[in-house]
Amino acid sequence: MRKNIVAGNWKMNNDLEASKLLINNLLQEFPSKLDASKRIIVAPTFVNLYPIVEITQNTAIEVAAQNMHFAQSGAFTGEISATMLKGIGVNIVILGHSERRSMFNETDEMLVKKVESALQNKMEIIFCFGEMLEDRKSGNHFNVVEQQLTNALFQLNESAWKQIILAYEPVWAIGTGETASPEQAQEMHAFIRQIVSKKYSQELANDVSILYGGSMKASNAKELLSNSDVDGGLIGGAALIAAEFTAIIKSM
Ligand code: 13P
Repeated sequence: MRKNIVAGNWKMNNDLEASKLLINNLLQEFPSKLDASKRIIVAPTFVNLYPIVEITQNTAIEVAAQNMHFAQSGAFTGEISATMLKGIGVNIVILGHSERRSMFNETDEMLVKKVESALQNKMEIIFCFGEMLEDRKSGNHFNVVEQQLTNALFQLNESAWKQIILAYEPVWAIGTGETASPEQAQEMHAFIRQIVSKKYSQELANDVSILYGGSMKASNAKELLSNSDVDGGLIGGAALIAAEFTAIIKSM
């Protein structure tokens, strides 16, 4: 079911102490569950997942991992599997973030396997995709986005989509301070819903939450989130500041 979602991707920030401080500040603002149409998610680093899961139990805040390996177990030094995440109470995973694609050589083929593993383990996926600046400048951004979704997700059957949250993150807007305009975000989100609808059905497309990510902050969240096809945000830098993240959540 389509929901409004504000998710904070903490990336490689916040040691244990800082993570606890941030989450406790957020819990003061949102001590109890929100109404069923809204969700708050935070994604700490792997080492801080378990303490944050414990602190947020029975609260409004849900916890996601930032990545995972596609295998269940084995000789993959330094990696974490879906079963391990599930074992500590993490039921959501971010996959396909542009930083993983560009810095850690994550390919569409790997993402297909990761998506499969997450689905098998009954995890929800926040699936990230988005074009580079040169794609946008050359007018190729719609093609790039369609290709990314086709390559990694359009092989899924309809029922799998209950576990998918889409996150459109134009690479040129991530960590740059340059945000997509509300019009650019709405235009792309409407396009995404349209291609999902074409591949599956209007009903399924209407049910998918599509988040925007890329320099979203308290000062621009309201405008971005007021668009009919922008169902929430995936926030990086501003999610590290309790007051900023709180304000974004309140504008949802
Ligand atoms: P910023 O909000 O820092 O631009 O990061 C967005 C992002 O990458 C969230 O996954």
